[in-house]
This record gives sequence, structure tokens and C-alpha cells, in this order.
Amino acid sequence: MSKNYKIAVLPGDGTGPEVIAEAVKVLDAAGKKFGFSTEKKYFDWGGAHYLATGETLPADAKEQLSKHDAVLLGAIGHPDVKPGVLEKGILLKLRFDLDQYINLRPVKLYPGVETPLANKKPEDIDYVVIRENSGGVYTGMGGNVQIDTPDEVACQNWIYTRRQVDRCLKYSFELARDRHTAENPWRGLSEADKQAGYTSQLTLVGKTNVLTYVCGLWERAFNEMAKLYPTVKTNYCHVDATTMWMVKNPEWFDVIVTENLMGDIITDLAAMTSGGMGVSSGGNLNPTGLSMFEPIGGSAPKYTGKNVINPLAAIGAAAMMLDFLGEKDAAAAIDNAIAYVTGNKLKSMAAGKMGYSTTEVGDLVAANL
Ligand code: IPM
Ligand code: MN
Repeated sequence: MSKNYKIAVLPGDGTGPEVIAEAVKVLDAAGKKFGFSTEKKYFDWGGAHYLATGETLPADAKEQLSKHDAVLLGAIGHPDVKPGVLEKGILLKLRFDLDQYINLRPVKLYPGVETPLANKKPEDIDYVVIRENSGGVYTGMGGNVQIDTPDEVACQNWIYTRRQVDRCLKYSFELARDRHTAENPWRGLSEADKQAGYTSQLTLVGKTNVLTYVCGLWERAFNEMAKLYPTVKTNYCHVDATTMWMVKNPEWFDVIVTENLMGDIITDLAAMTSGGMGVSSGGNLNPTGLSMFEPIGGSAPKYTGKNVINPLAAIGAAAMMLDFLGEKDAAAAIDNAIAYVTGNKLKSMAAGKMGYSTTEVGDLVAANL
């Protein structure tokens, strides 16, 4: 019996609806080809809804979404809404309420995509960043006193529990373990590593030289869990040095795991090294619950309604969603079609410079599945 997946679609603001339309087009084409169907329900949450109603999310948003197998999100952000309102009220609230504690951000240079890194090729830039998505400073504890006086004090607490760290590390070790096999080991391993039985590498990124309490917890938990995953070679980098290596030697990375804010920062850098926001997708995962997939770029107000924005990141997010739902062949076919289109068709990844319109790029991917 062919499977049917219930998808909650949140096109959101700006160019969100345009890129989501292309993602849905590709999803439907993939369903026809690979024998599954998707039942979509659209939600109009976003800046326009907020301006019209004063509500970011309805009180029962979580209940409404929970009837679905996955969420596909376009973009949240509106030029007439104060920064922070929609980000916190919609995107972060959904991540927290649905306990999507993994933010999965593949960093992959597709063929034909320009990277600002000199002499780096697709085989050099192909890793995954796992950003912890539920804790850290994003927890939101803290406050201000003596506001607007010269003595104002601001405090934003950086918080992690062992349980939060352990569940993120478990996901990371498993992903690293499954990303490569003995027949197809990670390219960065030495002969000695392979002899020792390693197939993959997991790098913990932190700042253990200064932020000893929180990063110390991560490091202890990481080293302890490593014993359970003998094929995963462990590695550690300070976050500042990581930004250096991501530019100079991206081929040194296989899977990276890091805490929330550090992950937020390094994944923007990572996205730029692999062709920018137009091609970067991410998943907010609750491995035992409801997950949400999104292009990691914003709502791009200046390109809205012009049919010029690059939809590949949203299409890639749909592929990640299918992979997560277990439709591995369909996900791989979309990924290959994206690679075909970047390698053979698009002139640039930038909005308005692709040589094709938004809808034509969606057509190209759908036609090349
Ligand atoms: C991201 C974004 C969000 C974040 C913002 C919009 C709240 O930058 O998804 O990386 O900080 O997580
Ligand atoms: Mn970010």
C-alpha cells in the first residue's frame, strides 16, 4: 500500500510562499515517481497574519500541527514588524513547543555552485552541522534591571542540562556512525584510522578553554558517549578556530556537533561557503516527535513577488523531510536532481541571476527526478 504523509505547510512571509510552491511541486512529482502521496494543510501564520490579528501563533498551534507527520516552513519575517516578534513568537516558539532539539544543517557544495573559498570543490565541502536547538542562551532566562540608567545590568543565562546534552550527542553519534560504512569510509580518515576500525568522524565544537562549566559538561558527556560508538573517530575544535578551518580546510569535517548559539553562528558561515542561503536547507528535528524543515534563508522582502528567488533551499528542505519520513530514494533523487540543475542549468545561485525564474527552477528539478 502506498504511503500518505500529512504535511503541515507554513509558507510564511515574503518569498516564503514562492519557494514553498516549488518545494510542493517537487514533492508531488517525487510522490508520483516513488509511489507515495502527501496531504497538505496550509497555515497562514506569519507577519501578515500578525499585523491583521495581533496574534503570532494561535493558542492551539501545537495541537493543530501535531496532527501531521512533518512541517514544511517557508520564511518568517516582515519589514513592518519589529525584529524579534515573529522570530521568537513563531519560529523559536515552534522549535521549543515541539521540542525540536536537533537543528540539522547539511553543508554541501553542489556542482556548478560558486564558493568564495579558493580552490575548493564539491568533494571538499560536504559535511553536516548538528546545532543543539533547545537550550543555551536561547532558553531565554535572564533579565534587565535599572533599565535605561547608566547602571543597567543585563543578564542572559547560558544553560544546559546533562539530559539535553546527552540526547543531542546521541543523535550526533548515530548520524555520524550511519553516514559512512567500512566500504565507504569518510574521505578524511588515514590508513591507520581505517585499520583502527573508524568509518566516520564527529567533531565537538565548543570553547573549553574559557567557558569551562558549560563546555566542560559537553566535553565530558561527549568523551563518555564516544565509548559506545567505536567506528566514530572523535575530534574537538574551539569555536573560533572552527571558523578558521571551515574557510581554510572544510574537508577536515564530516559531522560537527555544537551548542545552540555557536551552531547558529557557524552555520551561516558554512552556508556561505557552500553557495549561500539560496541553496542551504535545515531541519528542526524531534527524532521521536514532529519535525520541521525550512530553507535557512529569510523572507527576502525586496525579491517578493518577482519570481526571481532561488527555490533550491526550500526544495532541499523538502528532500530532507522525505529522508526523515523514510522516503530515502525519493530524497536522494531530489538531491541528485538539485545537483544536476546546479551543475548544468543555473548561471548563479543568486536571486535574479539564475538565468531562470523561481518557477522554472522548480520545473527543472521536478523534470529531472
Ligand atoms: C536561524 C535563525 C533563527 C535562530 C532566528 C531567526 C531566530 O537565525 O534559524 O538560524 O537564531 O535560530
Ligand atoms: Mn541563524
